[in-house]
Amino acid sequence: MKRIGMLTSGGDCQALNAAMRGVVKTLDNSKEDVEIYGFLDGYKGLIYSKFQMLTGRDFAGILTKGGTILGTSRTPFKTINDPDENGLNKVEAMKQNYYKLQLDCLVILGGNGTHKTANLLSQEGLNVITLPKTIDNDLWGTDMTFGFQSAVNIATDAIDCIHTTAASHGRVFIVEIMGHKVGWLPLNAGMAGGADIILIPEIPYDIDKVIAKIEEREKRGSRFTIIAVAEGAISKEDAKLSKKDYRKKLEKQVHPSVSYEIAADIQKKTGREVRVTVPGHMQRGGSPCPYDRVFASRLGSEAGKLILDGQYGFMVGYKNREIVRVPLEDVAGRLKTVDPDATIIQEAKLLGISFGD
Ligand code: F6P
Repeated sequence: MKRIGMLTSGGDCQALNAAMRGVVKTLDNSKEDVEIYGFLDGYKGLIYSKFQMLTGRDFAGILTKGGTILGTSRTPFKTINDPDENGLNKVEAMKQNYYKLQLDCLVILGGNGTHKTANLLSQEGLNVITLPKTIDNDLWGTDMTFGFQSAVNIATDAIDCIHTTAASHGRVFIVEIMGHKVGWLPLNAGMAGGADIILIPEIPYDIDKVIAKIEEREKRGSRFTIIAVAEGAISKEDAKLSKKDYRKKLEKQVHPSVSYEIAADIQKKTGREVRVTVPGHMQRGGSPCPYDRVFASRLGSEAGKLILDGQYGFMVGYKNREIVRVPLEDVAGRLKTVDPDATIIQEAKLLGISFGD
């Protein structure tokens, strides 16, 4: 008999359900008896012992379903060692609940913050296996995270829609793409959507270079320009500020996000009409694309295999087209960013895409 605790933590994304289904199907198809404890709303469920007993049937029909059947929440790692409002030690509470339920392991699905806590629990002696979810694709140790390709599809659709209206009106349009502190999503959606300018956090932009690209396009006869802006994009000037000064600047910021600041700068410097579109959380919503369904199922089945083999302390990842096991301590606290010198950036530049640098 294996007793498995499962939870999804952090921002949701597509294919969380597909991944959990993959784990459970693999276990169900083995000779092992299993009990599944589904902790509700992320680590909160484990801290406060809120869980549901689940069977294979609960995971039927969810391959195509977006969101997470377990619910999720953010439990910041920064404050994980601080007592809660009632003085409860959260880490001790998680450990106690794990031992009380006599769990054999925890399967934790999450992104960067989630992995820091998962690694902590593993170091505290719990058996942990993680699966890499996030639309940001910023987890170290895996070439791909599930949710990413589905989000690329949605963000690309948004750019496609903007393309036709921008062309009709002859306008400059900014589409703000999620991705937190990294540029994977805006880079890929921007290229897929034929954006003329892509601004990502890893390549700080110069607003005059952005304007120069718009003007160059106009000289060549193009009536419109599409700019894909990462929500974490940063100007060259701001990139020179210390973290503290940059935070101060953001506190005083009158614009709702960097895209509106860029739009205002272009408008002020050139008098051009600029429109901003923010697809926002749509990018995390809806059903997973076929790639993510297959990918998450593969990761889930490998996690199931690890459980059956009694191998813990790993994230199941994807490297060089292979499903791999990555030690949790290698993943936790490390961000996978876009290398500004990567070949994809060079190729995009050859295609005429400006990064505003
Ligand atoms: O990490 C996933 C993500 O969607 C980021 O792209 C975005 O910055 C963030 O979560 C939004 O978080 P929230 O859902 O808490 O607003």
